Amino acid sequence: MDVSRSVTGARAVHAEPRPCAALFPPGFLWGVATGSHQTEGGNVASDWWYRENQPGTTVAERCGDAVDGYHRWPEDLDLAAGAGFTDYRFGIEWSRVEPADGHLSRAAVAHYRRVAEGAVARGLRPLVTLHHFTLPLWFAAGGGWLRPDATERFLRYVDALAPVLDAVVEHVETINEPNIVAMFPKLTGSGGLARGMPVPDEATTEVMIAVHRAAVARLRANHPGLRVGWGVSVQDYQAEPGAEAALEAYAEPRDQVFLRASAGDDFVGVQTYTGGRLRVDGSVVKNPAAERTQTGWEFTPAALGGAVRRVARVVRDVPIIVTENGVATADDTRRIAYTTGALESLRAAMDDGADVRGYFHWSLLDNWEWGHWGPTFGLVAVDRTTFARTPKPSLEWLGSLAPPQNPNRRESA
Ligand code: BGC
Repeated sequence: MDVSRSVTGARAVHAEPRPCAALFPPGFLWGVATGSHQTEGGNVASDWWYRENQPGTTVAERCGDAVDGYHRWPEDLDLAAGAGFTDYRFGIEWSRVEPADGHLSRAAVAHYRRVAEGAVARGLRPLVTLHHFTLPLWFAAGGGWLRPDATERFLRYVDALAPVLDAVVEHVETINEPNIVAMFPKLTGSGGLARGMPVPDEATTEVMIAVHRAAVARLRANHPGLRVGWGVSVQDYQAEPGAEAALEAYAEPRDQVFLRASAGDDFVGVQTYTGGRLRVDGSVVKNPAAERTQTGWEFTPAALGGAVRRVARVVRDVPIIVTENGVATADDTRRIAYTTGALESLRAAMDDGADVRGYFHWSLLDNWEWGHWGPTFGLVAVDRTTFARTPKPSLEWLGSLAPPQNPNRRESA
């Protein structure tokens, strides 16, 4: 199936009757992804807020008001639904729900319930992320994920979300990229892909897995209708000739241990942006001639299919949902080109047997990229003074590729 025929920008796509509607099967989740801290703004009780406001902070650019998503969510849902998407990933911010140890904010929980209900009212199935890099400051100050009561504290927060999860939520991602959390346990930020991925901290890896397993059990016990998983950062590592063992050794601590920990889950989220070739000695080949994105990563659209193929081999029978894929670029035609290649490689992986149930594009909005405002991943531009949203052609283009939906909404992954 060739999606490139429709890569002519939104206006041209509009003139054609959804040329690629058959690319993915009916009921396939077709979504856009956002995260809490990167869009909401004013998360004053979080560790990242504290950090960015310290004298001499290493955070280059403050998140501050972000893109005011906490107040402008109805507009954002309208944009996603209006473009044709059927699924919406958003984050719940723990530091808003529990700004002080044990003090839960009913108002914040009610807010997130309104967002979930607002999504459904517009025909969008919510996929909710419970932890996306930020922590309440009180939790981080007490040792973060390595504190002895980490699981217990996280479960207390999970319990507090019952009014949101009972409402209309279908999918929950417990932890966003636990492997990146374990790679940067000291909050040095993400963005390390250009230099190759550091080895995750072992203790943090163990805690992430334990917290996830406990959260899955708790969510299943309390909300039997939910589909629960987590989202692992999986880049497309390929072996140079003879480097197969080196690839295994590289990938094992960086993502495969996390992927295997999703055994028994309802889905595993795959979050892919780029890829790299590994030499026999385990180092990553740099290609000086490669096109690079605003984050410095190699522009490798087919990385998505490669990553999904490896994930399918590792997780075997756990269904896959692509919970993030996208590109940081100021040129929207390159975004469409990248996404075209990514979707074609995804479809090819599915044709070869990968059980993929959905695709979420990162991101709906240009947003705060963990210390920087420069990289723009959005299908929608945001004026950071007025917060006005301006759709790019890629929004309508990608929305127009939405697969036909089943009337029975519980049929997908
Ligand atoms: C994260 C996002 C981030 C994106 C692009 C993922 O690692 O979940 O928060 O913005 O990649 O860097």
